[in-house]
Amino acid sequence: MSDQPQRLSAGGLPLEPIETASVDELRALQLERLRASLTLAYEKVPHYRAKFKAAGVHPSQLQRLEDLAHFPFTTKSDLRDTYPFGMFAVPRADVVRIHASSGTTGKPTVVGYTQRDIDTWANVVARSIRAAGARRGDMVHVSYGYGLFTGGLGAHYGAERLGLTVVPFGGGQTEKQVQLITDFKPDIIMVTPSYMLAIADEFERQGLDPKACSLRTGIFGAEPWTNELRQSIEQRLSLQAVDIYGLSEVMGPGVANECVETKDGPTIWEDHFYPEVIDPDTGKVLPEGEFGELVFTSLTKEALPIVRYRTRDLTRLLPGTARTMRRMQKITGRSDDMMIIRGVNVFPSQIEELILKQPNLAPHYQCVLTKEGPLDALAVHVEPAAGATAQAGDARALENDIKIYIGVTAKVHLAPEGAIERSMGKAKRVVDKR
Ligand code: DLL
Repeated sequence: MSDQPQRLSAGGLPLEPIETASVDELRALQLERLRASLTLAYEKVPHYRAKFKAAGVHPSQLQRLEDLAHFPFTTKSDLRDTYPFGMFAVPRADVVRIHASSGTTGKPTVVGYTQRDIDTWANVVARSIRAAGARRGDMVHVSYGYGLFTGGLGAHYGAERLGLTVVPFGGGQTEKQVQLITDFKPDIIMVTPSYMLAIADEFERQGLDPKACSLRTGIFGAEPWTNELRQSIEQRLSLQAVDIYGLSEVMGPGVANECVETKDGPTIWEDHFYPEVIDPDTGKVLPEGEFGELVFTSLTKEALPIVRYRTRDLTRLLPGTARTMRRMQKITGRSDDMMIIRGVNVFPSQIEELILKQPNLAPHYQCVLTKEGPLDALAVHVEPAAGATAQAGDARALENDIKIYIGVTAKVHLAPEGAIERSMGKAKRVVDKR
């Protein structure tokens, strides 16, 4: 690792040695860390110990990385069943931070961090922002929500760790977001892609050209977004749009991040998070390159070691490009968001892709599912692009594309500009009334 010249990121900042280590070095480190992590889970968390015993496995049986496949999965219900702190591997007094995600029903999912976990997290987010193209002296405007959601504080600590100037705005107050972006001139924004669109609309509403704003880089995540939306945002705001991925159960933002030089799917920070892709029906590990459900095992976490966590996110693993670490293909959807319409599986991202092919339509949309007698019906509500007067013909064109490319019949409704609910965080793309 050490005899190589130090490599720099696209923004001219030094990479960590592990980012350019050989695959063999990386695998050796992962094996060592994986053993320690499974042992910690087994020894300190009764829930894991019981599950390992029921599956007839013991951490000492992990001889190779592939042996992880014998260990049981963890799901959201494991965290719910042990609510609030039952999965913690350290005394509560050693936990310096709690986050939680609300979910749609019932109790929130609670996660905890030791001081070292917070440190690791800040480091991987700093690495993510650097991969996105940060330069020395940059200012970062954070519009992810602060609070129990991991987005705001996760982004914040990472930007500080990288030595950048942070504006901790949080979500909401869209008018004021525009004012501060205009006045402070940040270089980087961290926000959900759907809220970025709302901010861009607000620029235009105030008579300002979003292209003329100071932003050079957007680090977008927390929800699925397509490459078509990437192009649209890049053109509209004249910036580089890169994808940041993460989830609270595994850490928060910064589990993986795209490198700006390739923009070919998030690089997984594999020295801390070990990925697998499984067949969601059988649970079998799939060979690299095949599509399935992403599963993560934490390699260095102390407060909440997580073993084979089923993310419900659908993607595939790809070889490294800008770094040695593997990438994941940009996520097209979550199994939770998959709509089954008369037997056809449809993801909101497929609809988004087609909306963006229509110049008169804006990517503000919602899919509403109802029953027409015994049959499923899909309505797509979508707004005209700013300044465009979308007509019935545009709606028919979208219906036609949905029929041809996705194979389902949809009714497209043109909503007045601003009528589709704007979210300040994750957009709600599917309303299932069935
Ligand atoms: O959304 C953490 C985060 C904050 C990531 C800010 C990126 C930026 P949760 O609220 O636990 O954590 O939601 C995690 O959001 O399983 C995915 O379904 C989805 N998600 C997160 N990032 C992406 C992304 C945060 N880049 C869930 N692309 C995950 C697609 C994403 N989906």
